[in-house]
Amino acid sequence: MNSISFPNIDNENLPKWEGDLAPLECIEIIEETHNVKSFRFKSQKDAWFQFLPGQHTTLFLNIDGAEVMRTYTIASSPTRPHTITITSKRMSGGVVTNWMHDNLRVGDCIDALNIGGSFSVALDNPKTKVLLMSGGSGITPMLSMTRYFIDLAINVDIVFVHNAQTPEDLIGKYELDYYAHHQTNFDLHYVCDKAHAIWQGESGFLSAEMLARMVPDFLDREVYCCGPEAYMVNAKTLLEGGGFDMNHYHQESFDIESSTAQHNMAEPHEESLDTPEFSGEVVEYNVTLTETGKTILCPSNINILAAIQKQGIGVPFACSMGMCGTCRVKMTEGTVDMDAQGGLLKSHEEEGYILTCCSHPTSDVVLDL
Ligand code: FES
Repeated sequence: MNSISFPNIDNENLPKWEGDLAPLECIEIIEETHNVKSFRFKSQKDAWFQFLPGQHTTLFLNIDGAEVMRTYTIASSPTRPHTITITSKRMSGGVVTNWMHDNLRVGDCIDALNIGGSFSVALDNPKTKVLLMSGGSGITPMLSMTRYFIDLAINVDIVFVHNAQTPEDLIGKYELDYYAHHQTNFDLHYVCDKAHAIWQGESGFLSAEMLARMVPDFLDREVYCCGPEAYMVNAKTLLEGGGFDMNHYHQESFDIESSTAQHNMAEPHEESLDTPEFSGEVVEYNVTLTETGKTILCPSNINILAAIQKQGIGVPFACSMGMCGTCRVKMTEGTVDMDAQGGLLKSHEEEGYILTCCSHPTSDVVLDL
């Protein structure tokens, strides 16, 4: 007769997972809604995951022979450290997520970057009352934070406001409803853009009146917000308009939910071209792009990504902060000063890769680009 083999859960005698340790093995796929799936992963080698609620990782996938990367917030909680869950929504034209929905199977293994990111309640010194605001698949860091608060029985008063297009698009509804019924400190509100006649929650665009009705004490709360750009702009406007102290407002600082390495070719924000903290003599170096066949000048006080984009050359990037790995490129000659914030594996660095968004040349440089 078969018997269950239990994994080692003694974390002291178990390696901590880092991207270099082992690929992630998909162990479960859950249909959350008609277009959202959750993928649960464990480390292929026994290991545990240490991270903070709200942080993210970048997956490396090989799609039709091309290596693509995609950054996802982890929806599970670090209080359940032997697996991580990524919850993703199928998008029209989305390459990586759609591929995962259609092709990833239980037992498949994929490589990923170390977990990182600065959007987490555990990195702040928040008030004891929090307001979690999410739109669409921006719910994932809020799910992680909610699970974390509840698993650790943290004494915090939570109001969770989640916006979705329709009631059929509500992610994690059964679990959140359960918390709303069983936790004294958890108040839940759904807002659907379009709702059918039997929908009893709020519907329409999130407005100041709606916010005041659902969260009358929002001025007293620490606010965490994640969702599409338009959603976050609206949320900020409503809070500011209501007199909220924005020092207590936090949002996912870059749109990781739409960052796809092969497709994000937009120009960087103008402010990312400047590096005000740079001190010392500015020297101009040549940056040669072998595949593009161009050589450009890059002053040592400007990151290489910005210098390339200033010339109108489109290159992949997402966070512009050294975190997501999207701008990774192989440097075949030269040296740089790089301030990678977790976006590059040690093994890739040893192979000569750099992150152009946080690398400043310290000599002439040749890139496989
Ligand atoms: S764009 Fe994210 S690490 Fe460079």
